[in-house]
Amino acid sequence: MSTPPSTHPTGPLNLLRPLLLISYSAFYAIPTIINLLITFNLNPFFSFEAFKDEWFARFWAFFGPKSRENAEPKVMPLLQNNARGVCLDIGPGSGQWLYMFAKAKNPDITKIYGVEPNFALHGALRENAEKAGLGGVYEVIGCGAEELSTKGGVQPGTIDTIVTVQCLCSIPTPQKIIKELYPLLKPGGRWLVYEHVKTKYQGDFVDYWQKIIDYVWPHFFNGCNVTRPSDEWLLQAGEWEEVNLRPGDGEGPYDTLPHIIGTLTKKQFEPLQQ
Ligand SMILES: C[S@@+](CC[C@H](N)C(=O)[O-])C[C@H]1O[C@@H](n2cnc3c(N)ncnc32)[C@H](O)[C@@H]1O
Ligand SMILES: *[C@@H]1O[C@H](CO)[C@@H](O)[C@H](O)[C@H]1NC(C)=O
Repeated sequence: MSTPPSTHPTGPLNLLRPLLLISYSAFYAIPTIINLLITFNLNPFFSFEAFKDEWFARFWAFFGPKSRENAEPKVMPLLQNNARGVCLDIGPGSGQWLYMFAKAKNPDITKIYGVEPNFALHGALRENAEKAGLGGVYEVIGCGAEELSTKGGVQPGTIDTIVTVQCLCSIPTPQKIIKELYPLLKPGGRWLVYEHVKTKYQGDFVDYWQKIIDYVWPHFFNGCNVTRPSDEWLLQAGEWEEVNLRPGDGEGPYDTLPHIIGTLTKKQFEPLQQ
């Protein structure tokens, strides 16, 4: 199968994209409020955190599939047939990528834990797991990745595959959480990554633009941050046997949301020297 040509828009106009996304998200506050009122779900009006969860869930139901369509050609080779054994799917949201873990294409997956703290997304997540034929395989854990070893009961060295797709931008204290996830991997275990990160064009306009966007962006995307060097944090998290990370195809100095994609394989045990 040949990869389709990149439809990624380039050029300075691309700098306006974050503003477009912010206005989409702002618009979705309206149906969120209406829906909460007509379902008498009034709690989120008294907690901004709860409101942001509901708001993001509604926005992502619309926008998630659009962002997935864009990213699919890149993410497909990463997720499909690359995950094996016991997997941690961090921040799966509504589970819109789950069909890629379908049993037929991933015979080596034995168990997937979906670690999703936003309960407003759990309904859609369970539904998508069923749809992907992962009913008996996929288990939703309703906690943050930072609570995995305490609340989630996950032991160090027990995980074959960690998946982070568009979530390291949104978790609190990402550097710390990445460091805490590393020991959960078995030696030889793999981390599959697709994330937007801090631009590599330091000193260019986009560098300053990212910082400006970052003042407002997290309020519209439930804590998402556009200036995180998540790739560097991953590299620093521990020793890796093999690192296979590359920037998103065709992305350049006008991308406020540039990506990294690829895999990191945890260092194997050293064979004992005689
Ligand atoms: C931008 S959404 C992406 C969802 C999904 N990965 C996708 O690509 O469609 C980020 C997700 O990270 C989740 N998240 C936020 N904090 C988290 C944490 N501490 N641990 C795990 N996931 C978290 C959010 O609830 C949200 O579902
Ligand atoms: C986003 O992350 C960067 C890198 O960790 C940090 O310096 C910045 O303060 C964060 N921005 C917000 C709005 O939290």
